[in-house]
Amino acid sequence: MKILGIESSCDETAASVVEDGEYILSNVVVSQIDIFAAYGGVIPEVAARSHLEAIIPVVEKALSDASCTWSDIDAIAVTHTPGLLGSLLIGTLTARTLAILHDKPLFPVHHLKSHIYANWLEGNKKPEFPLLALVVSGGHTQIIYMRAHNSFEIIGTTLDDAVGECFDKVAKILGLPYPGGPNISRIAKSGNPEKYHFPHPHTENPLNFSFSGLKTAVLRAVQKECGVGPTFPSSGLSSMLTEPQKADFAASFESTAVSYLLEKLKIAKNDKNDIDSIVFAGGVSANSLLREKAKITLEDKKIFFPDPSFSGDNGAMVASSAYYEILSGVKSKDPYSVNILPRSTIK
Ligand code: KG4
Ligand code: ZN
Repeated sequence: MKILGIESSCDETAASVVEDGEYILSNVVVSQIDIFAAYGGVIPEVAARSHLEAIIPVVEKALSDASCTWSDIDAIAVTHTPGLLGSLLIGTLTARTLAILHDKPLFPVHHLKSHIYANWLEGNKKPEFPLLALVVSGGHTQIIYMRAHNSFEIIGTTLDDAVGECFDKVAKILGLPYPGGPNISRIAKSGNPEKYHFPHPHTENPLNFSFSGLKTAVLRAVQKECGVGPTFPSSGLSSMLTEPQKADFAASFESTAVSYLLEKLKIAKNDKNDIDSIVFAGGVSANSLLREKAKITLEDKKIFFPDPSFSGDNGAMVASSAYYEILSGVKSKDPYSVNILPRSTIK
């Protein structure tokens, strides 16, 4: 079964043809990172306009790269929730129109499910159930228990910022361009992770996370290092830091964020004593320190990370997610009435 997956929930316009939920026949991603690096973050109206320009050429390229015509496509899948309203609208309306025009079944999918299903794309081994999924993206940080395909129970979540957002905010303090995560990771490699000690924020439920406190702890430490008070604006700090100081802050922050994530996952793994596999999902799962430390911390379980090129937003994971929904008995939706939902939890 060949599914065309379309993704436009944030700042990537992407489409991919995937066979049987696994084999990637094409994968086209047009990123708006260059546009938003200049602004230091995503501007929703600009993102929507860029999706509008890119979406049709991206879909056409996904089909031609896969050597497919419309008659080869069995279904269309699209991210319809959660994400930026204008961005979701472009992908979803395009998918609805294409489904009507070419008479294809339409499957609207949840963005976080798709991130999880990036772990089922091409690879020799597949995760097995029951499993824990750690979803770590720019908008979400959740621990999800899956008993079977298409069965999701959120057992831990962030009470404030997402971990990716925290990486992006700390990067801004250090004067690094958007998106912060990869840039923090890059400069952290030459820094000392032991130089600064940041606390693991306490949460009443030990499976929940809090990242706004960690971001503030970094901000206060940078202000202290620069010899200024807590009211000094964060935007003025980076020019007062040397490159080695920035590297030490990046390394100390990254190491704390990673150990905090893994500490929670370890508690979850012990709470649910039937876990077979642990899968990582979302943009932050590209992080090399997280990959390295996860294997050590969670050594007794089977650990899965998506190929780094599929950690971020892409159409292949959308197609794979829809494939497993279909196998679980989910029916296609009426293309005339599929709606977008900027916010929603995984169910
Ligand atoms: O999943 P994603 O591409 O988009 C959302 O669904 O939000 O995640 C984007 C987030 C950004 O916050 C970005 O800084 C972070 O993933 N990220 C990373 C790395 N690569 C991307 N964070 C840490 N280390 C990385 N290597
Ligand atoms: Zn995402």
